[in-house]
Amino acid sequence: MTTPGLHFPAGFRWGTSTSSYQVEGAVDADGRGESIWDRFCRVPGAIDGGDTGEISVDQYRRRAADVALMAELGTNAHRFSLAWPRIMPEGTGRVEQRGLDHYDRFIDGLLEHGIEPLVTLYHWDLPQALQERGGWRNRETAERFADYAAICFDAFGDRVHDWVTINEPWIVGLLGHQLGLHAPGEKDLKASVTVMHHLLLAHGLAVRELRATGREDARAGIAYSLFPHAPDDPANAADRVASEGSDGYVNRWFLDPVHGRGYPADMRAHWERVVGELDFIRAGDLDTIAAGSDFIGVNYYTRRIVSARPGDGPWPWTVEEGRSDVERTDLGWEVVPDDLESLLLRLHRDYPGVPLLVTENGAVYGDEPGDDGRVHDTRRTAFLRAHLAAVHRAIGAGAPVEGYYHWSLLDNFEWAMGYWPRFGLVHVDRETQRRTIKDSGRWYAEAARSGALPA
Ligand code: NOJ
Repeated sequence: MTTPGLHFPAGFRWGTSTSSYQVEGAVDADGRGESIWDRFCRVPGAIDGGDTGEISVDQYRRRAADVALMAELGTNAHRFSLAWPRIMPEGTGRVEQRGLDHYDRFIDGLLEHGIEPLVTLYHWDLPQALQERGGWRNRETAERFADYAAICFDAFGDRVHDWVTINEPWIVGLLGHQLGLHAPGEKDLKASVTVMHHLLLAHGLAVRELRATGREDARAGIAYSLFPHAPDDPANAADRVASEGSDGYVNRWFLDPVHGRGYPADMRAHWERVVGELDFIRAGDLDTIAAGSDFIGVNYYTRRIVSARPGDGPWPWTVEEGRSDVERTDLGWEVVPDDLESLLLRLHRDYPGVPLLVTENGAVYGDEPGDDGRVHDTRRTAFLRAHLAAVHRAIGAGAPVEGYYHWSLLDNFEWAMGYWPRFGLVHVDRETQRRTIKDSGRWYAEAARSGALPA
């Protein structure tokens, strides 16, 4: 049974999403180099429960089985990332053919089942060798990224048409370099804004490489961590200003320069006030950053409620947590599907004509297999339905949304939180590595098969 009116356009991409370090394991296989996450996981206390990505959900070795799982689901798209240290173990120079071979076979496997690959080039596993030279703080890393991107375009560009260059530049800056909660574990505000600039620069340089291939069917974009904002008290003018300011920090700081508008003046003033001159921005950088983005990748999980209350951070606003009685996931994130609709419409309004892909959306629900061997994760099914209905409304109102990639295909390594948060449509028992399609996965499979939301 389908809900009347909730048919999606033909060609809509029903996808799943993962990233290399979160699912692959096999960190020493086939000449892979060390990444900053291998190193960070060894820092005592860095990861809940002392977990690491060393084995993870073993997708590197279970490649064929996981492709078969997607074929069983019947989804027609999959987003995953290439591990830079598998392809270039030292981050630059020598290319490891066995790393390329792995992804070759993975991509071919997907295509054999009619699953369109969406390939992320950087989902946080920087080669440690580049970190030794300053990592993303060093402008040269953006150039090395462009070299790596060119190798990937050359190796896979005959079969891969859509590329996400960088995943979540704001989160890399915030968690990796400002709060020290992600690799490389740095706590330095100036480094954080520098890194964010270099990530955008890396995107622009990679896009130039992509254009240089002459492939007209190739597209590139960034997957941004976008948070719709709302003032804590909509009637309070100071809260409204605070909310707009925080939106500049989280969203506009990235979207505006990539789409040719330069860095937003309000946020630039905030940054200059807290870190001084932004001397890492060189002449011509903004042209490079605006070199071209063929789609906007939307990673959407929840909203931010902001007040003008002075907080302990460097900004004149505070993110208010825990006040509302809105439903939450098992990670405590508010479930706000309507905000996905308004976010997509806002992007359509502010960056008209740019195709939109929901590159991530998902939720942590800890359901385990029951006595019947099935996982009755009704809350995830409800979450999926509500968010897909929001996408459907946005499309109905004119937003050019081409697809939805659920985070995640299967339970995996949730960075500093380790394995306890379960985001998957497929349950993974990490003792046995057994995969069990959850009820939500079956529901999603039916949506993908019929192109409409099942009742
Ligand atoms: C964003 C990141 O891209 C992904 O790696 C992470 O697992 C999910 N969101 C969930 O937090």
